[in-house]
Amino acid sequence: MKTIFSGIQPSGIPTIGNYIGAFQQFTQLQQDYNCYFCIVDEHAITVPQERLALRQQILNLSALYLAVGIDPKKSVIFIQSEVSAHAEAAWIVQCNTYIGELERMTQFKDKSQNNEKSGVSVGLLTYPPLMVADIILYNADLVPVGEDQKQHLELTRDFVDRFNNRYAEKNQSILVKPEVHIPKQGARIMSLADPTKKMSKSDKNTKGFISMMDAPEVIRKKIRSAVTDSSGIIEYDTENKPGISNLLTIYAAFSNKTIEELVVQYEGSGYGEFKNDLAEAIVAVLEPIQKRQTEILNSGELDKILDEGAEKARVAANKTLQKMKNAVGLGRKPRR
Ligand code: TYM
Repeated sequence: MKTIFSGIQPSGIPTIGNYIGAFQQFTQLQQDYNCYFCIVDEHAITVPQERLALRQQILNLSALYLAVGIDPKKSVIFIQSEVSAHAEAAWIVQCNTYIGELERMTQFKDKSQNNEKSGVSVGLLTYPPLMVADIILYNADLVPVGEDQKQHLELTRDFVDRFNNRYAEKNQSILVKPEVHIPKQGARIMSLADPTKKMSKSDKNTKGFISMMDAPEVIRKKIRSAVTDSSGIIEYDTENKPGISNLLTIYAAFSNKTIEELVVQYEGSGYGEFKNDLAEAIVAVLEPIQKRQTEILNSGELDKILDEGAEKARVAANKTLQKMKNAVGLGRKPRR
């Protein structure tokens, strides 16, 4: 069975962009793959976090993984910082990655601009090598992510080639080269306030995103105020009608309908009716998830699941880490 690795940062509350780009893929793929789903808390501290809030967000996100339907009997759910191999492997990755490669990463460019005043941490630059480490440690064949992570996956693939070329015996490989898995629709959910920008949980304008914890009334209000255009015609045209096209993509993800079916269904209807129905479709999915998340947080079952997850992850990750150390020549002698 092939292996999947993916992660979500516990920085703030996930949005419906994370839901469509990541969670929905996770729950679909877990049936057919050996999956590792990680709460990547070490990634979250590349920008300043408030300690107590971060802890709570780590727990909330862990509960959310379960609430959306990830089954801990099938998939390994764990917290990155509880498996020390990630930080160790990341160091070896950093020593085999070039500064130029990292300075080219668009996420680094974006995030470092937003952080101009408070200063940019080195971690923000070396964050992709940590992500590379996450993936290679589990010999992942497939990495389900949204489109914004594609560049990091390219970096991972380049790194695997380089590492194998440098350190493996001829015609052999030490690390597995992963494929990126991006949803056909919904790989890049756009901001509701500015449909030319990606929807992001760190957007200062809270009207731009719907968080997975937003109350039904808030969801309805945000959808009502979502930017569209003045034509009043519901059609999918990302170039000329990015607002309504984004809403159609979201609607398709939150219903069992395709974009084409929705366009036919709403032919001749106004944006008002379409938006009302869309808001109800989102509420119908998120409300039960929110209830389950609260139940899981109150049940006390989370600790055991995360302990077991970390233990399974450690076993798998340490094997690869040792292979990497052996390959590079760290320590007194190669170990198994
Ligand atoms: P993060 O936490 O920013 O986002 C988690 C996942 O959600 C996807 N996503 C979106 N998809 C569609 N539309 C959007 N507007 C949208 N916003 C976010 C992201 O593409 C991602 O799949 N570096 C990663 C976390 C990470 C990781 C990994 C992922 C760390 N190590 C190893 C895969 C494998 C990140 O910051 O995701």
